[in-house]
Amino acid sequence: MNLACIGHPLESRPRDPWIFLLSSLGFIVLLKHTLFFLQWFHSTFLRPPKDLAQYGPWALVTGCTDGIGRAFAFNLARRGLNLVLVSRNHEKLETVSNEIETTFPSIETRIVAVDFSKDASSCVRSIEEAIQGLDIGVLINNVGITYPGACFFHEVEERVWREIVRVNVEGTARVTRAVVPGMVRRRRGAVVSVGSGAAIVVPSHPLFAIYAATKAFIDQLSRSLHVEYKLHGVDFQCQVPLYVATRMASKVASIESKSMFVPSPDEYARVAIDHIGYEPRCMPHWAHSLQWCFAHCVPDRVLDAWRLSIGLKRREKYYAMSSSSYQVGFFN
Ligand SMILES: NC(=O)c1ccc[n+]([C@@H]2O[C@H](COP(=O)([O-])OP(=O)(O)OC[C@H]3O[C@@H](n4cnc5c(N)ncnc54)[C@H](OP(=O)(O)O)[C@@H]3O)[C@@H](O)[C@H]2O)c1
Repeated sequence: MNLACIGHPLESRPRDPWIFLLSSLGFIVLLKHTLFFLQWFHSTFLRPPKDLAQYGPWALVTGCTDGIGRAFAFNLARRGLNLVLVSRNHEKLETVSNEIETTFPSIETRIVAVDFSKDASSCVRSIEEAIQGLDIGVLINNVGITYPGACFFHEVEERVWREIVRVNVEGTARVTRAVVPGMVRRRRGAVVSVGSGAAIVVPSHPLFAIYAATKAFIDQLSRSLHVEYKLHGVDFQCQVPLYVATRMASKVASIESKSMFVPSPDEYARVAIDHIGYEPRCMPHWAHSLQWCFAHCVPDRVLDAWRLSIGLKRREKYYAMSSSSYQVGFFN
């Protein structure tokens, strides 16, 4: 008998093209996720930070007397940058400036007291005067406000939402516009704008709609300018935090202290600074990235319902805490 003619039983069957197609697809998906994970791991834990002095010897930080902005200022000073400190309260600015100059004796600071919720153009004139002749290499557009309690769009007083737009949108755009020409002339600079997961991680942010919309503006502005100004040597970036244990998080989400998934402002700013100069949009803290990853796995409809139920509970709580009428004001 000629054994060569018998062959293996499987070989005689035609190969199932579906099995081949599905296993190839599975392999591609697995490869994509593995590469994504490796890239995330590298950028979060292994990638060396840029030498920020290469952008210039000065940094400007807005909203620097508290929370994330204050932590940015201290950590930029630690990295050897002189600081232009911009916020609304002169005394607080002097305190932060003194603390920084005492902690880092080689660092010089200048202060500019402006309230972006009033007249953004006059604020920017004051900033332009203060930075004349300074080589600003890094700009941190950190200032941002929201309403103190969850509420429906029609419940927000016009004065309040206009102030949110003035600070978050106009303030960010105008300060950027004031600083970028110098960076373009010198062909170096980094502009970081602080966005929010409210506009990027969740599909909607009910009962904080104006805040979320202003943060979506910041995200798109940064990412478009990243492409526009690459040619001029200026690195734009939108950094996306989730909750950080600051006064803002305490007011809107009753977060009173740091935890595993809520970093302190200092923990957040340290890693945020290490991301400067890289991708157009990033989520610097690993704990925030994990939450983003979980959110990504949940259908939008479920996330919408979850956010709405949280918003309604917070509104009820805020309503109960407020006096008889439902007043919406600012953090002061
Ligand atoms: N904390 C979070 O969980 C979280 C999450 C996502 C995104 N973010 C974003 O991160 C940024 C910083 O938030 P944060 O939590 O650090 O806020 P924060 O603790 O409330 O601090 C805000 C800072 O901005 C200053 N500021 C407020 N209104 C101003 C105005 N009208 N003109 C000039 N300066 C003003 C404040 O100055 P005073 O000290 O004088 O009030 C303070 O220095 C914001 O853009 C926020 O949207 C925060």
